[in-house]
Amino acid sequence: MNKETLARKLSSGDCLPLFQMADAVRLRYCGNGVHLRAIVEFSNYCSKNCLYCGLRRDNKKIKRYRMSPAEIFGAARQAAQAGIKTVVLQSGEEKAGLGELFPLIGRIKKELGCAVTLSLGEKTAAEYRALKDAGADRYLLKFETSDEKLFRACKPDSDYSARFDCIETLVSLGFQTGTGNIVGLPGQTVRSLAGDILRLKELAPDMISVTPFISNPDTPFAGTPCGDLEMTLRVLALSRIETPDAHMPATTAIRTLHKEGAGKALACGANVIMPNFTPVLYRPHYSIYPGKESIIGDPSVSIRDILKMLEKMGRKVAPGYGHGRRHHTDSPL
Ligand code: 5AD
Ligand code: SF4
Repeated sequence: MNKETLARKLSSGDCLPLFQMADAVRLRYCGNGVHLRAIVEFSNYCSKNCLYCGLRRDNKKIKRYRMSPAEIFGAARQAAQAGIKTVVLQSGEEKAGLGELFPLIGRIKKELGCAVTLSLGEKTAAEYRALKDAGADRYLLKFETSDEKLFRACKPDSDYSARFDCIETLVSLGFQTGTGNIVGLPGQTVRSLAGDILRLKELAPDMISVTPFISNPDTPFAGTPCGDLEMTLRVLALSRIETPDAHMPATTAIRTLHKEGAGKALACGANVIMPNFTPVLYRPHYSIYPGKESIIGDPSVSIRDILKMLEKMGRKVAPGYGHGRRHHTDSPL
């Protein structure tokens, strides 16, 4: 589809046929299985000041924490014991602290047999290479918006083309690479969302995350409206149709926006859920946006709820590692 068609499909027309088509594409390319990825939010320190995000460095209202390697490993072990085969280590964009991760990545892979996804923000090519050498399989770096003007307005200390260079570097280093956008940023237009979908198609990443913007009172975007649920689902559905073989999560943000958000996302293209394994003690402080904590719940309860929901939908937990479809293996790595 071209930009005009995408913009039209985002802003008008019945969404049901679009969602059904995305669901059929998902079934054909990804099957019925839903991959579970355990997320561990191990540090909320961030050197950047994105206007939309609660972890921004100028937010003095949150208590900063960084989990020790032993705590991170403990959370990963809990995930492995729950049968989850991927651990996602996420943090704000820290300046230092990578060194501690190298041995940890190796241990999570060797001792727990899990694949490791990292989500640590922009790093140098040498740092990305060191993380890959340490054994990391995947990396998530959302471009957030493909609209350069909006990007500049929302991410004052990031450079638009440098971010896309990071994504390219990750791909060239052999990471299974994830990227994506935020839907409903203040000032974002339907055309700019259509541009995001085109950019996703061009990048053809292994994973795509589409999240609604959720307004955070402790940021400069306090009081602005949240992203619209239906618009987010339309972007998700069109991204699935345009980039059929990517893994796409039903994100925590969609679940925060609507209590049935996970089911709705899974019915229009999503095939991944990321149960949260951050220790309860730290969760209130990983406050990217409000309302998140109350929906993530205890891992064992949330996995039980996920299984119940999948059963109702006629879906099941996918076996294996759920590598990107171009990485033809289901070995641990
Ligand atoms: N609403 C939705 N998503 C957000 N993120 C940061 N702030 C918000 C917000 N207010 C997302 C960004 C980032 C990820 C860690 O969290 O997409 O990549
Ligand atoms: Fe930091 Fe990422 Fe939040 Fe920006 S979006 S403030 S880089 S954690």
